[in-house]
Amino acid sequence: MTTSTILITGAAGWLGGLLSDALIADARTPNVRFILADIVEPKAPKNVEAVTIKADLTAKDPIDALFNTKLGIPDTIYCLHGIMSRGSEDNFDLGLKVNVDSIRLMLQAAREYGPKADAPIKFVFTSSLAVYGGPLPHVVTPDTIATPEGAYGMGKLTSELLVNEFSRRGFIDGRIIRLPTIVVRPGVPSAATSAFISGVIREPLKGIESLCPIGNSIDDPALELPSWVASPETTIKNFVQAMHVPGDKFLKHTRVVCLPGFTATVRDELEALEKVGGKKALDLVKFKDDPINRRIVSSWPPRFDNTYPLSLGFHVDEGGMEPIVRQFQKDIEAGIA
Ligand SMILES: NC(=O)c1ccc[n+]([C@@H]2O[C@H](COP(=O)([O-])OP(=O)(O)OC[C@H]3O[C@@H](n4cnc5c(N)ncnc54)[C@H](O)[C@@H]3O)[C@@H](O)[C@H]2O)c1
Repeated sequence: MTTSTILITGAAGWLGGLLSDALIADARTPNVRFILADIVEPKAPKNVEAVTIKADLTAKDPIDALFNTKLGIPDTIYCLHGIMSRGSEDNFDLGLKVNVDSIRLMLQAAREYGPKADAPIKFVFTSSLAVYGGPLPHVVTPDTIATPEGAYGMGKLTSELLVNEFSRRGFIDGRIIRLPTIVVRPGVPSAATSAFISGVIREPLKGIESLCPIGNSIDDPALELPSWVASPETTIKNFVQAMHVPGDKFLKHTRVVCLPGFTATVRDELEALEKVGGKKALDLVKFKDDPINRRIVSSWPPRFDNTYPLSLGFHVDEGGMEPIVRQFQKDIEAGIA
C-alpha cells in the first residue's frame, strides 16, 4: 500500500491541529504519517507514525532537519506557519522574517530535496484575502489583481509569487489557497481585527459578554457590514482537497485558488446567534463602534466568485451562518470549543 509522508509546519496552531486529524480520516490518503513542526511543541496524533519537531523555522538548519527525519523526504508539505494579521502589522520585521524569508527557505529546501522524492513535492501554502486592497470590483474573480494594503497581505502575496515561480520551473508542485475569514474560531479572543467575527458568537454561547466594534446598537445600519467567511469544517475539507487536485487542472499562469466562502453581515451572525442561543445569548453582545476596526474590515472584499474553486472540487458551506453557529454550540457541549 502506498504511504503518504506529510510535513505540516505551524502544526501546533489551530488549523494545523485540525488538519492532521482530517488527513488521517481521508480515505484518499492511505497509510499517512507525519512530520509535524512548529516553534511550539506540536501534539502527535494518536495511532499513526509521527515525528514532532519544536523549531524556529526562520533558519536553514532547522528547515533541513525537517527533510532528514527517520520518515525521509515528505511527498507533501502543508506550509501553515506564520505571523497573523495584527502580529505582522505591529512587528513588521518579524512578519517579513516568518511570512516571507522562512517560506523562501522552505521552498528552497523542497527544491533541493525534491529530486530525491518520486515527484516534485506538493507544497500547499495558506494565504489570505488580506492580499486584496484598494479599489475592488463588486465580486472578486481569479482575474482580480491583488494589491495589499497591509504587512500581512504583502508578506502572503510575496510568498505566493515565489510558490508560483517555483512551480512554473518544476521545482515543486505548488498549491496556494487564499482563505476566507474562518468562523467560529474557538479559544480565547485574539487581537486580530477580524476577531469579533468569531467573538460575537463564541463568547455569548458560552454565557460571556462580547464587545462588537461595529455599530452602537442592535438597530445600527452599520451591522449590515459584510464579510467573506467559511466554517472551520469546510475549510479543513478544502485543505485536504488542495493536495488532491491534479496539477494540470489549475489555471496555466497561477496556482492561486480563493477557497469558496459566503457573504455574512454582522446582522446575519446576530440573527443566527439568537436562533441558536436565544435572546439571552443575543443580550450578551454589547456594542461600541470602533471606526478604525470598521474601516479595516470594510476594506476587505466581501464577495468572491466561487465558480473556479468549485470546478476544482473544493467545497462550500450550505445554509449560511445558522448551521455554523449550531455546530459551534455542539462543540461547546462536547467540551472541544
Ligand atoms: N485562521 C484564519 O482565519 C486564517 C485566515 C487566512 C489565512 N490563514 C493562514 O492559515 C495558516 C494557519 O492559520 P492558524 O489560524 O492555524 O494560525 P495559528 O496562529 O493558530 O498558527 C500558526 C502557527 O505558526 C507557528 N509559528 C509562528 N512562527 C513560527 C516560526 N518562526 N517557526 C515555526 N512555527 C512558527 C505558531 O507557533 C503557530 O502555532 C496561517 O498561515 C494563516 O496565515 C488563517
